[in-house]
Amino acid sequence: MAISAGDIKGLHRYEIQILHIIERSMQRYKWVPLDHIVKAVGLSDSEVTFRIGKLMEKGLIRFEALPYEGYALVFTGYDALALLALVKKGTIRALGCQIGEGKESVVYEALGLGNVALKFHHVGQRSFQTARQKRDYMPGEGHYPWIYASRSSAEREYEALRRLHPVVRVPLPIDCNRHVVVMEEIIGTTMNRCVLEDPDAILNTLLSQIRESYRQGIIHVDLSEFNVMISGEECILIDWPQWVGTDHQNALDLLKRDIRNILTYFHRKYSLEYPLEETTGWVTG
Ligand SMILES: Nc1ncnc2c1ncn2[C@@H]1O[C@H](COP(=O)(O)OP(=O)(O)OP(=O)(O)O)[C@@H](O)[C@H]1O
Ligand SMILES: [Mg+2]
Repeated sequence: MAISAGDIKGLHRYEIQILHIIERSMQRYKWVPLDHIVKAVGLSDSEVTFRIGKLMEKGLIRFEALPYEGYALVFTGYDALALLALVKKGTIRALGCQIGEGKESVVYEALGLGNVALKFHHVGQRSFQTARQKRDYMPGEGHYPWIYASRSSAEREYEALRRLHPVVRVPLPIDCNRHVVVMEEIIGTTMNRCVLEDPDAILNTLLSQIRESYRQGIIHVDLSEFNVMISGEECILIDWPQWVGTDHQNALDLLKRDIRNILTYFHRKYSLEYPLEETTGWVTG
C-alpha cells in the first residue's frame, strides 16, 4: 500500500469532499464525469480541476479518457477514505508502519486506545477471477467488484472475530470501516517462523481452539502455520475472511483440511503423530 499518514493529513477538505463524491457516484458511473463532480461539490471548475490534480498526484484516484472523461477511486483512495473515517470516529489517532502482508491484504500498526492492527483487505482486480471462485459472497458487485469484494472480505473477517472473541483466542475486534478491520495488535510471530519449546502443548491448545470455533459454528478454512501467531505461551488464530459456518455443505471436509494442515505441519517439523480421523472426531465431538 502506498498510503502514508502524511498524505492523509495533507488532504484539503475539498479533496476529501471530492473523494467522497467519487466514491458515492461510482455506484452509478464507471468513471465519474468531471461535470458531475463540479455540480455535486459546488465549487468552481478551476478549483475542482486543481483539487483533482492533487488527488491524482497522491495516487488516490485515476483518470480515464475513454469512452468518456472521468475519474475513479483506486485502492489507495479507498484506503484513505477508510482511514479518514476511522480517525473521525476516534478509533485511531495515528498510522504506524506496515507489520504484515498477505496475498490479498496489507497490515499496518496504528495508535488507537492502545496499539492496534489495521488489516486492509485488497481483493485485487487482477486476482479477481480466482477470488470469485474461492469466495462466494459478492452480491451486487456493480462496476467495481474489487471494492465490494474487499469490503465483504473485511466484513466477513470482522464478523468471525466478533463471534469468536473471547471464547476462541483471536485478535480482539475493535472496528471495521469499508475494507479495513481494526483489531488488537498481536505482539508475536507467525508459527512458521517459530521454533516451539513445547510443541505438544501448543498443538493441544490449537486443537482446543479449533474445537471451540466449531462449537461456535465457525470453521476457519485457511488454517495453517501461517495463520497462527505465537505470543509467549499463547497461540492466536488470525486471518478469518474465508470462514464458513458448520452448516456449510462441505463443512466436514473443510474442517478436516484445516486439521490436516496443522497435523502435517507438527508432524514434519516436530515429529508429532496425531491421527487425523480421531483428532477430527475429538474436535467435532
Ligand atoms: N492482529 C494482528 N497483529 C499483528 N500482526 C498481524 C495481525 N493480523 C495480521 N498480522 C500480520 O499480517 C500478516 C498478514 O495477515 P493475514 O494472515 O491476516 O492476512 P493474509 O495472509 O493477507 O490473508 P490472505 O493472503 O489469505 O488474504 C500476518 O502473517 C501477520 O504477520
Ligand atoms: Mg494469512
